[in-house]
Order: sequence, then structure tokens, then C-alpha cells
Amino acid sequence: KDKVTIHTLKRFKQIGQKICMVTAYDATFAHILDQAGADVLLVGDSLGMVVQGHDSTLPVTMDQMVYHCAAVTRGARRAHVVGDLPFMSYQVSTQEAVRNAGRLVSEGGVGSIKLEGGAEFAETVRAITRASIPVMGHLGLTPQSVHKMGGYVVQGRDEEQARRILDDALALEQAGAYALVLEGVPMDLARAVTQSLTIPTIGIGAGVDCDGQVLVCYDLLGMNPDFKPKFVKRYANLHGSITEAAGAYFAEVRQGTFPDEDHSFKANKNIRLVANS
Ligand code: KIV
Ligand code: NA
Repeated sequence: KDKVTIHTLKRFKQIGQKICMVTAYDATFAHILDQAGADVLLVGDSLGMVVQGHDSTLPVTMDQMVYHCAAVTRGARRAHVVGDLPFMSYQVSTQEAVRNAGRLVSEGGVGSIKLEGGAEFAETVRAITRASIPVMGHLGLTPQSVHKMGGYVVQGRDEEQARRILDDALALEQAGAYALVLEGVPMDLARAVTQSLTIPTIGIGAGVDCDGQVLVCYDLLGMNPDFKPKFVKRYANLHGSITEAAGAYFAEVRQGTFPDEDHSFKANKNIRLVANS
């Protein structure tokens, strides 16, 4: 299978083939999801929440993103790997943005980076693209702006906000972004943005008319029974499976039925086991 590149993704939009994107944070998940058919693996800064246990993505650092990107790229074969630029790694200056994007590529091994924001980051997108690092944009509900948004709230429900998101999308395409994540926006706005752009849109909580979809892998696999927002569909109940499997293991340990002979080693025949004294 040929490796997926940013050119593959642009072609997918042209021929109407949906782009399948999912997050991954380590090599084992990357390998499984790649083999399962993912076109794009996103090393999302959502790892701050699902891996690190924070209540936002804001504490995630560049060093942590580099570490997880390197693990995921080792596990991926066919999929294109995208690394998120974390909070405060690209907002201070264009120079810092380019250097940090470069770290995700040179140390993390990713094929492109993603950053959150609209027209105000067009210059940043242009500068990173100029350094030959493809940029994926991210508009709508942008988790790094949780304090500005006043929570994780659907964006672009009124006409003024919707118009701004459409303008931001055009500005990002103009600046050289190769694709765009639309998160937490009404489906009609996502459809309008998708039809207005030549670059692919990838939706999460943005309706079915985007050029592709993305979900956090722990969400689609049903790892957290307490997290059930409207936009998540659970395709498995790994919380249940893991609880059951681990519970069975603990029970056998307590009963003394694990390990049995099949899972234990035998010495060579006829050796004498006497303590040296
Ligand atoms: O960090 C992340 O997982 C993301 C996706 C939800 C788009 O940015
Ligand atoms: Na993210």
C-alpha cells in the first residue's frame, strides 16, 4: 500500500473519497489503526486530556508532543501522520512557530503539523509552509481557546460568527494550508465551508458533508463511559472489555490458577536442585 501524502488527500477530495482520520498517541495504537485503514493519524494535543488526565489541552508541552509524535511515526506504515502544535508553541512569534513545527518533523518524524486559528494565523501558516512543512488548519471549536470561548461550546451558530469562520477558512487556504479541521460547528456551515474550499475539510462534530472525519481514538473505542458528547459515536466498548479482561486476570491470580503449566517454564531433565551451603 502506498503511503498517504498531502497530495493523496487533495486527490481524495477531488474524486469524492472520504478521508478517514483518527488520533493516536503511541506506536501500538498507531500500528493497529494504520492496519485498520486510517488515512491520517493525528497526534492530537487531546493527549493532554485522554493520556495525561488534564481537564484541557493547555498544559501539553512541545517536548511531550515530540515524544508522542516519534512513537506514533514508528508505529505507522501507510497513514500520513500529523502532529499538533501545542498551546503557546506558535502564538508568541512566527519564528518560534516555524522552529517548533520543525521539531515535530525532524525529531517527531511527522509529515505535517496542525495549528488552531483563523486569519490571525495566516502569516504563521505561510511561514511554516515556506519552510516546506505542510500545515493543517483547525477552526470552529478550538480547544486551546477554551477560556476565550467560555467552555467547549459549538461555534458559528449565529450569522456573524459563521461568516467569520468561512472567511477564516478562505484565509487559511489562501495562506497555503493543505487541509482544515472543522470542529463543533453546525453542519450547514461545515457544508458551506467544504464547498467554498479546494482543500479538504475534516470534520468532528461538523456533520457528514465534510471531506473527511476525525475522532479521538479513545472516544470511538468507548474507553471512558463518563464522556458522551453528542458528536461521539462509540464503535466498541473497550472500557467494558478491559474491565472484564483485567478482572478475569486478577481473579485467576487470587485463586492461584494463573500461571498454569502452559504459561510456566520447565528446567532441563534430571537437574538436581540443592541449595549451595
Ligand atoms: O487534539 C485532537 O485530538 C484534535 C482533534 C479532535 C481534531 O485536535
Ligand atoms: Na488538537
